[in-house]
Amino acid sequence: MPPRKIIIDTDPGQDDAVAILLALASPEDIEVLGITAVAGNVPLELTQKNARVVCELAGKTDVPVFAGCDRPMGRQLVTAEHVHGKTGLDGPSLPNPVMPLQDQHAVDFIIDTLRREDSGTVTLCVLGPLTNIATAFEKAPDVIERVQQIILMGGAYFEVGNITPTAEFNIYVDPEAAEITFKSGVDIVVLPLDVTHKALVTQPRNDAFRDLDTPSGIAVAQMTDFFERFDKEKYGSSGAPLHDPCVTAYLIAPELFSGRHINVEIETQSDLTRGMTVADWWGVTDRPANATFIGDLDADGFFALLVERIGRL
Ligand code: BDR
Ligand code: CA
Repeated sequence: MPPRKIIIDTDPGQDDAVAILLALASPEDIEVLGITAVAGNVPLELTQKNARVVCELAGKTDVPVFAGCDRPMGRQLVTAEHVHGKTGLDGPSLPNPVMPLQDQHAVDFIIDTLRREDSGTVTLCVLGPLTNIATAFEKAPDVIERVQQIILMGGAYFEVGNITPTAEFNIYVDPEAAEITFKSGVDIVVLPLDVTHKALVTQPRNDAFRDLDTPSGIAVAQMTDFFERFDKEKYGSSGAPLHDPCVTAYLIAPELFSGRHINVEIETQSDLTRGMTVADWWGVTDRPANATFIGDLDADGFFALLVERIGRL
């Protein structure tokens, strides 16, 4: 099978960085057409910079990086420095990027790419709030039917929420964008907290990255060292959940994951439950299925894949 053509839409973020490294290390499976940055974990000025920092860490400076929307569609931006640090990539000390940021707006890059490539051949891998994606769909509705698949990290059912008691961060930041995306009719795969909280970087897994003894391996170990403090304190878990790499790992090895094809709606009205993913896991409504909602993964297989691939960089 030829590699899947993807656009990575992202708000790096240490876990976004690991997801990007996995994609860039896997050319036989994935062709990264471009990386589009969005405001999320930290403001856009930092996420677009961090995306370039990660490309340079991987030695892939020919991947075009675009800056997109600097705020949600209809709300103030909420950021997560309390998790990711001031830069969004706290942990390792990485040089400022020298590779250029593309002039084109990320939304226009998404639209042009979907129009240029054969219909049904481009997958959108979304690691942050869905602002760029929904803005592209609003601006150019003709591209919606051309998307092969959207694979996104966001939402939760059993784990409910991380930024509020009922909402996961990516969906919470821009629930209107999430609603547009989930109602678009595109084939969607969701990697919610239910699965990412099972992808924990325990000490032996952190050691395996560090023992690669390469710039990327050491940086991944330092990044997870940094942001595990937050989750350890909050959840008492044995390490940091690698949320976003579940997206790129799903592309490469979907057999590591399992879930259900169900209906998922987004709460946009209530102040109390804003951004909740109302997932009909138990099939108690007759609302039509619109997403494959992943619930479980083979965590050892996932980390073996990550270490093997990142070891190539
Ligand atoms: C998601 O929010 C961000 O903090 C992470 O990068 C991930 O995409 C987890 O809720
Ligand atoms: Ca992210």
